[in-house]
Amino acid sequence: MAEIKTVGVLGCGLMGSGIAQVCAQAGYRTIVREVSDALNQKGKANIIASLDKLVQKGKLDGGTREQILNRLQFTTDLKELAPCDLVIEAVTEDLELKNSLWKELDGLCGPQTIFASNTSSLTIAAMAAVTSRGDRFVGLHFFNPVPVMKLVEVVRTVTTSQATFEQAMAFARSLGKEPIAAKDSSGFIVNLLLVPYLLDAIRALERGVGSVEDIDKGMTLGCGHPMGPFTLLDFVGLDTTYKIAEIMFNEYREARYAPPPLLRRMVLTGMYGRKTGRGFYDYSTNPPTVSNLGL
Ligand code: CAA
Repeated sequence: MAEIKTVGVLGCGLMGSGIAQVCAQAGYRTIVREVSDALNQKGKANIIASLDKLVQKGKLDGGTREQILNRLQFTTDLKELAPCDLVIEAVTEDLELKNSLWKELDGLCGPQTIFASNTSSLTIAAMAAVTSRGDRFVGLHFFNPVPVMKLVEVVRTVTTSQATFEQAMAFARSLGKEPIAAKDSSGFIVNLLLVPYLLDAIRALERGVGSVEDIDKGMTLGCGHPMGPFTLLDFVGLDTTYKIAEIMFNEYREARYAPPPLLRRMVLTGMYGRKTGRGFYDYSTNPPTVSNLGL
């Protein structure tokens, strides 16, 4: 197995920028690919803001910040990922889009390159199958915010070799993360439990069990969660949650994974949460206020 020195990251959104940051922080040369320069700039700005937070807190010095940024390269050209030893994909939860990228990369990268998807809910085998490297294909599922959350789910599919799985576990540890092993089952471990909980919170709101604020307060003060379910939904993104729920519902056909009507309506109208400035809360005010959802 080749040593991992250069990591490619596909997509530089919320997850991709965090993944690229932790790879560069751990000393890997990191090549990020987005579809436009504007998206690359946006992702880079997120990384700089996150590193600056660490500098302000005295957890990182200015020189190390520069070294980390120097290890990062941004491109719109997929061909520049050819020299990577590992490619981590963090694009939208759309199997067709992911597979078109994997097919192209399969022809560009050397036979040793490991492919890893950060998908939250899609089947890893469905991606491995479009490449010639099923044995070198894994899931590496990170959590938001990536620089802070310690967990990575390492997902082994039916074709993943033991050597690839072990290398992926070691890679996650080299980033300072705690890996856990999960089977290639939609939602893996965390989302299998988290997604129905978040959807239940929306259903409770629809039924008038409690207000957004009181349900959030219930779970923070009653269970010690760092964020209540609506704050977390806005943080993860309602569009992302909706896609994950649909994928999980298609896989399991169980009502608890079905996206509730309120979630669908909010997504249809662009209320994606923090990323669009409005979700269950309105972020145009400081502190955010509960959105009027006409309930
Ligand atoms: N980059 C660097 N540091 C960051 C950061 C970022 N993007 N965001 C937060 N931090 C740091 C802060 O600087 C702070 O550091 P110190 O402890 O050194 O002061 C620390 O993280 C805590 O942040 P804050 O004090 O600002 O706020 P907080 O105490 O409320 O913590 C939180 C923020 C860590 C996000 C916390 O609220 C939390 O754990 N929330 C739950 C997050 C969660 O559940 N994530 C999983 C979502 S599900 C998912 O991602 C998977 C999926 O497939 C859907």
